[in-house]
Amino acid sequence: MLSIVILAAGKGTRMNSVLPKVLQPLAGKPLLEHVICSSKSLKPDEICIVHGFAGEMIQQRFKSISNLKWAQQKEQLGTGHAVMQATKIISNKNKVLVLYGDVPLVNIETLKLLIENHQDNEISLLTAILPNADGYGRIVRQNGHIQAIIEDSDARETEKSINEINTGIMYCEAAQLNSWLSRLNNNNSKGEYYLTDIIDMAVKDGIKVSGIKAKKWEEVMGINDKKELAKAERLLQRNLANDLMEQGVSLLDPSRLDIRGTLTCGQDVVIDINVIFEGEVVIGNNVSIGPNNIIRNSEIHDNTVIYANCHIDNALIGQKSEIGPYARLRPGTDLVGNVKIGNFVEVKKSTVGENSKINHLSYIGDANVGTSVNIGAGTITCNYDGANKHSTIIKEGAFIGSGVELVAPVVIEKNATIGAGSTISKSAPEDSLTLERAKQTSHEKWQRPIKKI
Ligand code: UD1
Ligand code: CA
Repeated sequence: MLSIVILAAGKGTRMNSVLPKVLQPLAGKPLLEHVICSSKSLKPDEICIVHGFAGEMIQQRFKSISNLKWAQQKEQLGTGHAVMQATKIISNKNKVLVLYGDVPLVNIETLKLLIENHQDNEISLLTAILPNADGYGRIVRQNGHIQAIIEDSDARETEKSINEINTGIMYCEAAQLNSWLSRLNNNNSKGEYYLTDIIDMAVKDGIKVSGIKAKKWEEVMGINDKKELAKAERLLQRNLANDLMEQGVSLLDPSRLDIRGTLTCGQDVVIDINVIFEGEVVIGNNVSIGPNNIIRNSEIHDNTVIYANCHIDNALIGQKSEIGPYARLRPGTDLVGNVKIGNFVEVKKSTVGENSKINHLSYIGDANVGTSVNIGAGTITCNYDGANKHSTIIKEGAFIGSGVELVAPVVIEKNATIGAGSTISKSAPEDSLTLERAKQTSHEKWQRPIKKI
């Protein structure tokens, strides 16, 4: 049976932030969430997270994830001490996989390999060859066999030149781990109980330490400061972009796309530059997304075009629609299909029926717009009376002239026409022209004001 221990008690001083390191966002998710997701996919018997610094904030953040055990490390006395807090509450009969909350990119296949290659009574250690090993623990080998891990701050010049590093990830029997942990000391440059010191102990006990090398060093990078966080973000985004392209999505520049959540695309989707996807976004077939769009938790159906510079949040966009440029679709927008939403149009909590158009400078909120409705430039649904929201119903075939204010609650009946500039506060009957305007007057003798000297 497998127990996974995730170390997440450190403050992450080098982040220079009030937010603890493991809550810093990577692709829109806290670092620790990436590690929890990888852990879950290994289907372990138990997952135990060691928390300490800002522990309550961290527990609160993950309270919706089921079956997590929490071990508190009151003082951050080192990674060995941290694991000790977890082994107190996990099963002593299990095998333990130790993961680090600040090593979020590790591939599940790599972890499986580490577990599959494990022989009873040995330690399996995930190592990597790094182009620049600065800051990492170095793997000391003799005749090819792992002997010890020397931490960067304790390493001598010769050891610093070793480019095989400790990823922090290891797998062994809980009972053995416990016996080594109980013998740890803190006689080192940082005065900490290093988990890595158990390697030397195990070797001295005649235990084999077998190293599995990660295929790509990128997946095991530790994130300690904002520069490393930004580097990991780019690496992860590049991988996500590559996955999309392999599925057939056309990205005009894979380095100018950000996915902070999950993006699902159909066939023949084209995404222009500087598009940010957040949360859960689903895109159908033959959809084109123009440049500079932000799209969050939304669905976009087949054959739709999103022009440049739109902000789309919790919206459903039916097929064959055209959105933007410069449109804002707010939560609760439901565009049934073949809908046109043009420039500087804001839609909120409204349904817009098939073949309807709202092309310029309008605000449509708390409305139900039927099919084949045309809403002229500068139309506003006055949905808020200062205390409550009210709804506007515009039925099929209605034509709303430019500059109309619809004071909700109000109903515009089927095929009604509203003359430009009207402020409509009573329902407008079907098949009629409704106007609400002051009489137009002209003053021949009127003079323009003259500037005072
Ligand atoms: C650690 C390893 C190093 C390895 C590197 C890989 C040790 C002693 N060193 O160094 O060999 O190359 O990771 O990224 O293990 N933590 C606690 N409690 C503590 C201290 C740390 O929970 O008392 C947690 C941190 O929150 C973090 C993880 O352990 O998630 C690693 O700690 P960090 O201080 O970043 O260790 P490194 O110096 O990076
Ligand atoms: Ca680290």
